[in-house]
Amino acid sequence: MIEAKSITKFFSVVNEKGLAEGLTAVLNVSLRIPDGKIVSLLGPSGCGKSTFLEILAGLQAPTDGEILIDGQRVLEPLPSTRKEMEDYKRRYRFISPLANGVFRDRPKHDIAMIFQDYAVFPWMTVIQNVVFALKLRNSPVGGERPDNRKRLTRKELYEKARYYLNQVGLGGVEYKYPSQLSGGMRQRLALARALSVEPKIILMDEPFAAVDALTREKLQDDLLRLWDETRKTSFPVIIVMVTHDVSEAVYLSDEVVVFSPGPGTIRNRIPIEVQRPRARTDPAVLEIQDRIFALFQYDLNQESEYSI
Ligand SMILES: Nc1ncnc2c1ncn2[C@@H]1O[C@H](COP(=O)(O)OP(=O)(O)O)[C@@H](O)[C@H]1O
Ligand SMILES: [Mg+2]
Repeated sequence: MIEAKSITKFFSVVNEKGLAEGLTAVLNVSLRIPDGKIVSLLGPSGCGKSTFLEILAGLQAPTDGEILIDGQRVLEPLPSTRKEMEDYKRRYRFISPLANGVFRDRPKHDIAMIFQDYAVFPWMTVIQNVVFALKLRNSPVGGERPDNRKRLTRKELYEKARYYLNQVGLGGVEYKYPSQLSGGMRQRLALARALSVEPKIILMDEPFAAVDALTREKLQDDLLRLWDETRKTSFPVIIVMVTHDVSEAVYLSDEVVVFSPGPGTIRNRIPIEVQRPRARTDPAVLEIQDRIFALFQYDLNQESEYSI
């Protein structure tokens, strides 16, 4: 289970007059996501979705609030009292001050993240991309393997990579480079890489935004199938997906969390109780889509009144 408790993120920015200014990217967001659920974060751009997702991943520290995964904090806060400082120094005494920052901010949980643009390494072949992720998981920074998983041999690494590439339909292209693949195939590769490490949580930031509509629908269906398989076998994965596509959010999710901008905060949470497999044209699905569009419309109208 993921618990976000009153997450707020504040940035200092320089405004057009050259003066420092505070910007609240995320304000007081609390969210609880049980195991084996798909949750979409939906909202117009600039409403703090990516920032919130990176905080979930432990890639950014929140200004206030905390993220717990299975009851454990994702990021350890910096020490604030003298005693905490001494404990901190003792714990990290073998690591250089420079590495300290890296070490402290190391996500301590099984999280795989898929970014919109930088999802794969262009200088590695398809299979190397997956093996690379598996190797990182094999010997992570700090030497602590999640769940004390067994270290894989080189042969096992490649077998596992091949297994997950087959799962996403990339069986025949292991030795190609990402530049030789279509956009949809690159996103499949990103998905194979995320699944290969068998994480508890997959975070996706607009993963299908760059592919054409038909490919996107196919990818969505594959994602659902693979996610369903993880539930049947070993690991009921939580998927948290950022999107600005209302129909995608409703089709995939158990819950849609609608963000509103300025400052980014939760406007509505909409449970989607339609049984899977869902039909894209199911009246129940369409009805929920309409409701969400209406919410958006309201936000957009308010915004335009402001800016004119
Ligand atoms: N590192 C940063 N420094 C300053 N402002 C930032 C930074 N990252 C994001 N922001 C600002 O925070 C707000 C939310 O950004 P983001 O989380 O990327 O929104 P979204 O993903 O919903 O489009 C935006 O106004 C953006 O300009
Ligand atoms: Mg974003």
